[in-house]
Amino acid sequence: MLGYSPQKLLNCGQDYSNSRTFWLLLTSLWQNKPALEVIQYALLLEQGKFGLDAQEAFHFACFRHEITKKYPVSISYYERLLKAAMDTAEKHGHGYLDELVEEYCQLKAKGQTSVHQLQEARLGWGFKTFVYAPKVDGLSSIQEFSGRELSLDFVRKCLKNSFTQATGTAKFGLLSLHVSKNMLEGSTGCHEWEAGLKLGEFVLSDTNLVRERCCLELGCGAGALAVCVLRAGARHVICTDGDAGALENCRQNIERNVSELLASQAPTRPRIEYQQLRWEDGWHGDASPSVVLGADLLYDPGVIPSLVEILRSALSPKGRLAVERRPFALIATTVRNDSTVESFVTRAVQRGLRVEEVASPAGKEDVEFVDVPMLQNPLARIVVHRIESQDLP
Ligand SMILES: C[S@@+](CC[C@H](N)C(=O)[O-])C[C@H]1O[C@@H](n2cnc3c(N)ncnc32)[C@H](O)[C@@H]1O
Repeated sequence: MLGYSPQKLLNCGQDYSNSRTFWLLLTSLWQNKPALEVIQYALLLEQGKFGLDAQEAFHFACFRHEITKKYPVSISYYERLLKAAMDTAEKHGHGYLDELVEEYCQLKAKGQTSVHQLQEARLGWGFKTFVYAPKVDGLSSIQEFSGRELSLDFVRKCLKNSFTQATGTAKFGLLSLHVSKNMLEGSTGCHEWEAGLKLGEFVLSDTNLVRERCCLELGCGAGALAVCVLRAGARHVICTDGDAGALENCRQNIERNVSELLASQAPTRPRIEYQQLRWEDGWHGDASPSVVLGADLLYDPGVIPSLVEILRSALSPKGRLAVERRPFALIATTVRNDSTVESFVTRAVQRGLRVEEVASPAGKEDVEFVDVPMLQNPLARIVVHRIESQDLP
């Protein structure tokens, strides 16, 4: 029995809950992949046709699946999806599914869908939802399980563990982020960035990195990494960002994703703090973090000096007991320009920090965000640096 109500698609007597293609339809929709890619998976469910069965599956994924209803994609993305669906049905010469036509008309007339009636939709904002799970046999994507017994098992496990719990666990889970599609609104922190997901995979794969520790995140943005760090068992997480809007959005995303953890009465319930912090102002907090985290902070070379200084102060031995575990930072960077990364490393070493590039975390049960193309693309370089103070013994 699956962990969510297995919705029979009655029109065609099909139950897609075990279908790998339906899974891909769902995850591509949740990740806001191009509309035609989403439609493509619906077509595959009906042997290449966009007849009523395929449209029914598409409608179910877009408007009736419990996760889509809880975390709706933005209205502008729905517009693209519905337009692509109407065009495809017309091109294929099939009739339209009534429910899809209704959604389309409602969107055109009132600027909302049945899903948005349930929630207040902020213009330009919507959810992106990612699923993470362990790699099995070193295979990197659920797509590669095609045709194997393992695939259904894997899907079942993901569904059971992700969709029945609001929080997920360190190994299986769902991460839903409220993000803005409008790059002009707010800072870069109102979007998700692959380096944050990559570092999230890193800590979920090797939870010892953060378990029971006090973690300080610099430039936390929408909160993807902070959610992973909390699920991996951190004791105290201090989320910081220079942008107040991004920080508030991060707070809301954390509350959505780890609500059960935060409501728990257990003594292990983590403490979370939010602080507006510009790197230029340095770290003067009371807490001595044992782990400092940051993802995609190096997109502007101008920030390097202040970033290095704040790392120095956050990792400094000042006030720490000799018996404490050696504090370290993990900084993940999408390499857009080699020289920016080189300048950062050079500056950090000059200022007394030890920097090491760490490729992948220890532990054989690597956790990955499923079907996120950039994380699986060997040409897209995301490096993770482990940084320590040289002043500590
Ligand atoms: C590219 S985003 C990355 C966000 C997040 N770490 C992630 O991986 O999704 C960079 C973040 O750093 C923050 N930021 C940029 N410059 C900053 C500064 N000088 N001081 C503090 N935060 C800054 C931005 O507000 C933004 O949230």
